[in-house]
Amino acid sequence: MSKNILVTGGAGYIGSHTVLQLLLGGYNVVIIDNLVNSSEIALDRVKQLASDLSHNLSFIKADLRDKEALDKLFSSTKFDAVIHFAGLKSVAESVQKPELYYDNNVTGTNNLLEVMSVHGCKMLVFSSSATVYGWPEKVPCTEEFPLSPTNPYGQTKRDIEDRCRDVQRLDGEWKIILLRYFNPVGAHPSGDIGEDPRGIPNNLMPYVQQVAVGRRPHLTMYGSDYNTKDGTGVRDYIHVVDLADGHIAALKKLFDTDIGCEVYNLGTGKGTTVLEMVTAFEKTSGKKIPLVMAGRRSGDVEVVYASTEKAELELNWKAKYGIEKMCRDQWNWASKNPYGYYSADDKE
Ligand code: NAD
Ligand code: UFG
Repeated sequence: MSKNILVTGGAGYIGSHTVLQLLLGGYNVVIIDNLVNSSEIALDRVKQLASDLSHNLSFIKADLRDKEALDKLFSSTKFDAVIHFAGLKSVAESVQKPELYYDNNVTGTNNLLEVMSVHGCKMLVFSSSATVYGWPEKVPCTEEFPLSPTNPYGQTKRDIEDRCRDVQRLDGEWKIILLRYFNPVGAHPSGDIGEDPRGIPNNLMPYVQQVAVGRRPHLTMYGSDYNTKDGTGVRDYIHVVDLADGHIAALKKLFDTDIGCEVYNLGTGKGTTVLEMVTAFEKTSGKKIPLVMAGRRSGDVEVVYASTEKAELELNWKAKYGIEKMCRDQWNWASKNPYGYYSADDKE
């Protein structure tokens, strides 16, 4: 019998790629998403890519803060596990509207955990973030590093991680995997699904992509005086399909072992500077990305990359793709969909 997986936030960037891998892996998937930062068109594309397996996907439009809707969903379907992506993720917005972030991310998760418990579904994979490491004292970041998020968004991730540890400690029937993602980029190689941020992108690659298709005149480079090989910040970019596969590995771990509550980094273990990333994108796309140098962005850290040992050893998962493939797939998605899931008229 195929397992039933509930995916919260499954219409979003990482969620849509993971849902596709789940369908292709033979799982039944139900998505709950309020579409606050996503489009149902992404789900139509996932269905096309999953072809015959698309009938194993269904979608409920609801907010995790609506406990009744959650309860109704769990009453109608018996889920074997939940992958929990749903959340708001803009660092800048979280500084302006911290209450919104606590309400959406923390209250939403508390509801989910309570309803799961009531219905006896006690297996969870949660999307945490490398942002919980703050400015690490050294690299690579191992899972034991102290947590010191520097913004409300990161604080919500830490709070949810803590809550998950508590829930599992108080009720040993729970099995929970907390995944700390580094910097997800790229898109499905088909170019049919990818990241489509609303408004002005905060993150490097969505911004680069919009410059490449002519939607923005230049990339502002935040900081060229870091203590790195070319002065720009270093991050651990990971292909979104590798990241999606990491979730399948985590699910298998939940189903096959008595894991308790464990945390894993999902990254490549390799650091890349902003300049290196932009150069790699220019090379694969053939597009020039005009740069405007600016000062450091407030709250940014210098160098962050993952130790991948624990995930490799215990989840039997390792990222396969390098930055050239990330840039190629990012460009394929961008050139096929310059306005994301919409048209120029809808967006501008
Ligand atoms: P995304 O915004 O594309 O996807 C999140 C989805 O959750 C969206 O479809 C949104 O509509 C939905 N959502 C938000 N609040 C909801 C609510 N209250 N009820 C129902 N649905 C809700 O973001 P993503 O990049 O796919 O990120 C997925 C998860 O991974 C998030 O929790 C994010 O914090 C985490 N994460 C992302 C990154 C990154 O750089 N993309 C890095 C580390 C961690
Ligand atoms: N950058 C620019 N110009 C831009 C955007 C970014 O120079 O227009 C630089 C940043 O200064 C940084 C690097 O590109 O040096 C990466 O920046 P991103 O915003 O893409 O990524 P961050 O590492 O700052 O943060 C992201 C997410 C967080 C998440 C973190 C770790 O925004 O939510 O990765 O997963 F927590």
